[in-house]
Amino acid sequence: MSLDKGLNKILIIDFGSQFTQLIARRIRELGVYSEIVSHKKIKNNIDYSIKGIILSGGPLNVYEIKRYSFDKKIIKNGIPVLGICFGHQILSKLNGGKVKQSKHREFGLVNINKKKESLLTKNFFKNNRTIKVWMSHADQVSKLPENFNTVASSLNSKFAIVENKSKKFYGVQFHPEVTHTENGKKLISNFIFLICRVKRNWSSKDQKKKLLKDIKKQVGKDKVICALSGGVDSSVVAQLLNKAIGKKLYCIFVNTGLLRKNEEKQVVKTFKKKLKINLIYVNAEKEFTKKLSNVSDPEKKRKIIGNLFIKIFERYAKKIKDVKFLAQGTLYPDLIESKSVTGSQTSKIKSHHNVGGLPKRMKLKLVEPLKFLFKDEVRKLGLELNLSKEIISRHPFPGPGLAIRMPGIITKEKIDILKEADHYFIQALKDHGLYHKIWQAYAALLPVKTVGVMGDNRTYEYLCLLRAITSEDGMTADFYEFKKSFIQEISNKIVNSIRGINRVVYDITSKPPSTIELE
Ligand code: XMP
Repeated sequence: MSLDKGLNKILIIDFGSQFTQLIARRIRELGVYSEIVSHKKIKNNIDYSIKGIILSGGPLNVYEIKRYSFDKKIIKNGIPVLGICFGHQILSKLNGGKVKQSKHREFGLVNINKKKESLLTKNFFKNNRTIKVWMSHADQVSKLPENFNTVASSLNSKFAIVENKSKKFYGVQFHPEVTHTENGKKLISNFIFLICRVKRNWSSKDQKKKLLKDIKKQVGKDKVICALSGGVDSSVVAQLLNKAIGKKLYCIFVNTGLLRKNEEKQVVKTFKKKLKINLIYVNAEKEFTKKLSNVSDPEKKRKIIGNLFIKIFERYAKKIKDVKFLAQGTLYPDLIESKSVTGSQTSKIKSHHNVGGLPKRMKLKLVEPLKFLFKDEVRKLGLELNLSKEIISRHPFPGPGLAIRMPGIITKEKIDILKEADHYFIQALKDHGLYHKIWQAYAALLPVKTVGVMGDNRTYEYLCLLRAITSEDGMTADFYEFKKSFIQEISNKIVNSIRGINRVVYDITSKPPSTIELE
């Protein structure tokens, strides 16, 4: 267990729950430092900076005792403990209670009712009586340990919240860390501030300091190349590394020819001229056009683009010499979408090129300082790093760029048309004060031509699709509801100004079942 000594912290013991990072995130939101350590690595080293312990949920069964090894003495040092779901069940089991398979499994929202007062649930219940919580369990505590009391019950979970007040042990069968649980954050806050009595000690500024320290420790005196796209995540990574290692950082910005209008100029202006970052600008437009000619399969496009990025990075890594690391702006949701936290593979929807592919072939070690953060946290960090609001609040833009917003074959003519349409759409969103209300928006060009009439003439031109979505983290999304006047204005603008488009449609599907990008 290698913990950061000194700073008062909450230790989260991870048993493989999908939500463990959400627990850490809620604690960060409350302004307190926490560290996640796998249960396999827990040893009972006395660390006086641990002020509270949270036992996470997990896919294991408490009765398969051998599979959740950890030094149980850690919870016998008088430190307050909160067990969540599986964590609640182990806490009961370790104190002499019993756990068995539930007759009635509970998944989703469930009402729980208050049975007694507790510090853990101060101002938690609605009308001091009941609240909706999010359950996800097939096992449950069937017999409480001695000296434990029931604080709340649901219809099927008698021991939905339990406590041993004198030992400061608390257990909840539901997940307070997920947003579906009403007031869940209040419960976590009560545990941290009222029970563990930790003081606020964590902010974006502290996050920045810690990341800078970690980067320096990881890369030492070696050189790092950073794949800079100009998007929020890679910009924050580049600026972090710039602050941590300065000229030993080489940012590589590849102009694929598939970028948004004027993007390459903006990136060079911001990073090279304003932020004085070591930036290598690679114009690879011709290479990309050649490799992608006549390719229409979405996965093939993604693979070709990913591979070409590798080649270009390899080429420049060789030129620079002695490069040992590749920095990427991978975020936590990217990791969950590509593989589950317990290590089991989830089904692959798309080959996102900044999670798979790149590193293995390049033999470079990865620097991924944002891999435990969520997008909004990265944005806050960016502001802390003095990046402009304009960069920080940009809509996400995928690595493969316009290639995946143009189903079918890619041609120079189509790229030029699409760049213009996208530019008009995004500009209109900005002019109408809508840009920041929308998580991501773009124009796409569909591979069909339709008939129209302009003046007195027949036209036969492309179909432009507009997509604008609201989302929290890109994992689920809903379409944005524009006023008719706006959608009419932008449709007219596109059709009247761009030769090559005579029809505009608006995508009204959510994710799932659709994805945000078209390919
Ligand atoms: P999907 O289309 O999977 O997109 O719903 C979710 C989010 O991810 C972005 N995206 C990518 N980002 N490389 C990236 O860096 C990629 O290959 C890639 N594919 C999709 C997409 O724009 C959306 O924000």
